[in-house]
Amino acid sequence: MNISANATPAIDSTIYLKDYQKPTFAVEHIDLDIQVHADHTRVLAKLQMQRQSAGELCLLGRDLQLVAVRINGRALTEKDYRLDTEQLVILDAPEQLLLETEVIIHPENNTMLEGLYQAGDNLYVTQNEPEGFRKITFYPDRPDVLSVFTTRVEADKTFPVLLANGNLIETGTVGDNRHYAIWQDPTKKPSYLFACVIGDLAVLRDHYVTSEGRDVALEIYAVEKDIPKCHIAMQALKHSMRWDEEHYGRPYDLDNYMIVAVSQFNMGAMENKGLNIFNTSCVLADEAYTTDAAIMRVQSVIAHEYFHNWTGNRITCRDWFQLCLKEGLTVFRDQSFSEDLQSAAVQRIDDVAVLKAHQFPEDAGPLSHPPRPDHFVEINNFYTATVYEKGAEINRMMATLLGKEKYRAGTDEYFRRHDGQAVTVEDWIAALSAGSTVDLSAFLTWYNQPGTPKLEVRGHYNAEQQSYRLDFKQSLKAHAKYPDLKPVPIPVALALFNPHTGEKYTLQHDALVENNQTEAVYLFDQAEASLEFKGIDQAPVASLLRNFSAPVNLDFNYSDQDLALLLQYENNGFNQWQATQTLLERILLNDHPAQIYFDAITATLPSIIARDPLLASRLLDVPSESYLGSRIDEHYQPEMIHEKREALLNQLAKVLGEQCKTIYLSLDPATEKDFSQAMGVRALRNIMLSLIARQGDLSVFELAAQQFKDSQNMSERLGALKILVWNNASQAQDALAAFYQQYQDEALALDQWFLLQASHPEADVQSIQALTEHPDYDLKTPNRIRAVTGGLNAHPVHAWSFGVAHFIELAAYLDEKNPIVGARLLQSLSRWYTLAEPQRSTVQQALQQLQSKVQSKNVVETLNSMLAV
Ligand code: TRP
Ligand code: ZN
Repeated sequence: MNISANATPAIDSTIYLKDYQKPTFAVEHIDLDIQVHADHTRVLAKLQMQRQSAGELCLLGRDLQLVAVRINGRALTEKDYRLDTEQLVILDAPEQLLLETEVIIHPENNTMLEGLYQAGDNLYVTQNEPEGFRKITFYPDRPDVLSVFTTRVEADKTFPVLLANGNLIETGTVGDNRHYAIWQDPTKKPSYLFACVIGDLAVLRDHYVTSEGRDVALEIYAVEKDIPKCHIAMQALKHSMRWDEEHYGRPYDLDNYMIVAVSQFNMGAMENKGLNIFNTSCVLADEAYTTDAAIMRVQSVIAHEYFHNWTGNRITCRDWFQLCLKEGLTVFRDQSFSEDLQSAAVQRIDDVAVLKAHQFPEDAGPLSHPPRPDHFVEINNFYTATVYEKGAEINRMMATLLGKEKYRAGTDEYFRRHDGQAVTVEDWIAALSAGSTVDLSAFLTWYNQPGTPKLEVRGHYNAEQQSYRLDFKQSLKAHAKYPDLKPVPIPVALALFNPHTGEKYTLQHDALVENNQTEAVYLFDQAEASLEFKGIDQAPVASLLRNFSAPVNLDFNYSDQDLALLLQYENNGFNQWQATQTLLERILLNDHPAQIYFDAITATLPSIIARDPLLASRLLDVPSESYLGSRIDEHYQPEMIHEKREALLNQLAKVLGEQCKTIYLSLDPATEKDFSQAMGVRALRNIMLSLIARQGDLSVFELAAQQFKDSQNMSERLGALKILVWNNASQAQDALAAFYQQYQDEALALDQWFLLQASHPEADVQSIQALTEHPDYDLKTPNRIRAVTGGLNAHPVHAWSFGVAHFIELAAYLDEKNPIVGARLLQSLSRWYTLAEPQRSTVQQALQQLQSKVQSKNVVETLNSMLAV
């Protein structure tokens, strides 16, 4: 018997949340034996199963070559089962059975990086979320089937490291050249959390004693030369373990915790039980090789995957529609962790910037979907900014509303009720409500609806009555697939400033849910409502949505002068930043005069630099061209935005004048003891370099060349290299070559080298082609692909012209080789229909042509949605 299940999958199948049915069989125990050979891998599985409800015994499996199947020791023949490209259905299955299967798979040819795959010469790893396990063996591969796993891994001795989840219980040899290890995971888990690693890797060890006294062995595996770059991740891991004990009362539950760094990986990292697998870009960190932003990201991803141990693993999702249950909550947790790590305001600024740059546009285009969708074709297409980032915002809103203590009581109740279960968003809201004694059920609407609500607020001052009234109104754009849109609960954090003194008024009103005198939260949960404050002796400057208390588009009748005053008066760093961003958006998109902005920034900058260089660096942000473009719904002309933004930056450079060089020379990252502040100083110095370059002062190239030569820090080196390369300085080619020379064996640094050139302001078809023809360009490594696409996306003018062909060609190739990555690349073109003609039609035709060629569910579903506008 030798049946191959290999044909192309059907493409039509939409799956609906309303069709959810409980699993028919439970798996009490699974015993896996994975034998890796150079040209195939043999997988033997024994499943102890027990019927739970009526229905067929259906085992999912894809691209598996079935060698044998037995039930309770009896070999089955073809009339005992049905086999197609997606599943193995056992006919007349008994109530209780031991199911044994033997299959052959080919990880050595697996380019999709899903299931078990070879990731370079000396390494095999798994990626099973969401549906990779069915590419390893036949199994009820769904998150609500939890089982106890025992795993035997066998390979050649040239792969000394053999890992799987849980505890190592046995090792031994097979003949002269092979060896094996047996691992037992004591906790029940869904198949998507299964992992194994077979490779030639070195390890960094440490340990951590939990609040319960458990001594946990910590191990980070990477190739030998990268081990010195694992210390920051190790510290972050220990820090995360402590943080989860202190903030959520959650200690770790196993005796070991392993992390494996892999360079060929589709996304950031994966929270497999006790055996996380990470993209190298999210674990390796060293100031000499890694930018400050990347170091911050490593720490947040380490925390994210660690936090999944409770929010995701111990309590998992009933079905994949509930993905944001684990992701939204875990992102909120990692964001809170990072706020404790560096400046809370700057972390919030960075997180909101990501939300607005990615989630808002996604939610305003054809790929818009609720955080919890009610249907999908390919679940891999729903690992989106909406599920992750908007999901996090929903949890943040509830936490803001509850305050620390009640929120903690709510999460305690969630863990008490659901530990060991596979649950839904409703279960989360119910537990949080019960524990906190606050009814949060209205927040379910946030999970079930697409679109960014528009929050319109008008402030009215009545001098006679000394009262100030705020009129609130919320609305959502109609959505074809989700017609039934309701108002959502919007927590509005607010303060009122006296325009002359900058003092905050005391706020008194019964409708305020949280109120510590001058800072309060108002819960706006109707279509329209008003709020009136008494005892306000001047027309105040209202600061709304402080700390970005809800993921909405705020439309408030601030004057530009009000925004300038907020930059000066606000003690909430986030709202200071937001004031500058709103002002700049008005200047760049609505032709407001820029002078108020220049006056405000020159007046406040010196003192903020002295006090908080990191915050100062963010206050100099100018919204990116792609963000500005995403705010335009029709007749979008990328060149126009580009020209306006360039003009503003040139003007800013002129206004700041000599100050730029003074600031640059006065700051020294080496004298900053605190990493955050050093990071701020480095960012400020790089911003100043770019402004000096805009002043046409050629001495900037000497400064940059010096910085490039003197510094051992990657943020400083790259910042300097950018100035040289992007301005075509005479030193540029030598510096680029030197950088390549130094880092050619450092894949992540080389990604930066590709990114920097792909984002050259004058990049063109030829320069991009030269990069993709470079010997180090590698289509098997998503990080390298994204270095070039990321560079293109940094310039909408490029992305929407010659970039389109690059995206389309890549997507056509990846459709077959790696459809997960292929579909994701296309998402950045989702707002094509907003372009002005003739560009709009050109891009449309290119997408339509691609649509006629592609096969994978991933790319087909993405293109179908994108073109259905
Ligand atoms: N669960 C992972 C996380 O958020 C993300 C994930 C899902 C993933 N599918 C993946 C990562 C595929 C890598 C590859 O932490
Ligand atoms: Zn996650």
